Amino acid sequence: MTVGLIEGLHSHSLKTASRWLSRSMAACFGAMVIGQLAFALFIALFYYPSTLTGNLAAWNTKPLITGHVPGDGMGNAAFAFHVLGAGLMTVSGWFQFLPAIRRRWPALHRWNGRFFLLSSSLIAINGLLLVWVRGSWLTLAGGLGVSFNGLIILICGARAFLHARARDFAAHRRWAIRLFVAASGVWFIRIFYMAWGITTGGIGIEPRLSGPFDQIVAFANTLLPLAVLELYFRAERARSALPRYSVAFLLALSAVVILGGSAGAWLVMWSPYI
Ligand code: HEM
Repeated sequence: MTVGLIEGLHSHSLKTASRWLSRSMAACFGAMVIGQLAFALFIALFYYPSTLTGNLAAWNTKPLITGHVPGDGMGNAAFAFHVLGAGLMTVSGWFQFLPAIRRRWPALHRWNGRFFLLSSSLIAINGLLLVWVRGSWLTLAGGLGVSFNGLIILICGARAFLHARARDFAAHRRWAIRLFVAASGVWFIRIFYMAWGITTGGIGIEPRLSGPFDQIVAFANTLLPLAVLELYFRAERARSALPRYSVAFLLALSAVVILGGSAGAWLVMWSPYI
């Protein structure tokens, strides 16, 4: 009787903790979509008009590492591909997570998934060329950090694809979510800069991005969100309520940081240029 009661209470609290965990994950994802909407809006209103009308010199009205170089047809084309692809890829990422689309239009889910996978891989390869062939890097840590991000995107994409083909959908789900998080790395970097700037006044940030914060964030933009995601995967499988509540709290906190950082990025990094 007592054992039954304890088991009943245990499973009740586990269910409540699970509910909080998925609500916090939804809040975190919602915050990411809001922040990425601002990023996509900037790309659509700044890069699309200038690139599609051939006014590539307009890119340089914004601080960039290389940007438009007169006479560098290949380099300019590579950057045009990068920013145009980045806008489409960002929007396609959100749709992949809408349960209604997965349930009602599975074919759309599959085609959008293929598009996200292909576009994120091509942008990663194209980004690697921008860094190591065009020479668009400010510091070695910055160049290596963004290249690490590109490599992780390629690995997550390959694993998501292979698990889907093998019809191992549990593994496919985990690698597809990792891909989405890794492909959000260059967006996360901007969120981290703004959240850090707002809370500390920018300690460790140097004008040419050579400060300690700059070097850490070059890798943390990939590693930190992926680490939080791993904690979420573990909490989902945890047999007690505490890990689920702890990760739910961490995700709720992340949602607040993401919203604050996104508001800052919109005000400082994006809206002044559109
Ligand atoms: C897959 C997700 C990615 C997205 C959504 C993305 C998006 C962008 C955007 C919007 C810009 C313009 C920056 C601005 O206006 O301030 C940019 C610049 C740049 N990206 Fe990416 N990017 C991604 C991945 C990568 C990767 C993996 C690399 C390198 C391996 C990379 C290398 C670069 C470089 C070097 C620039 C600066 C070019 C310059 O200033 O001349 N990107 N990216």
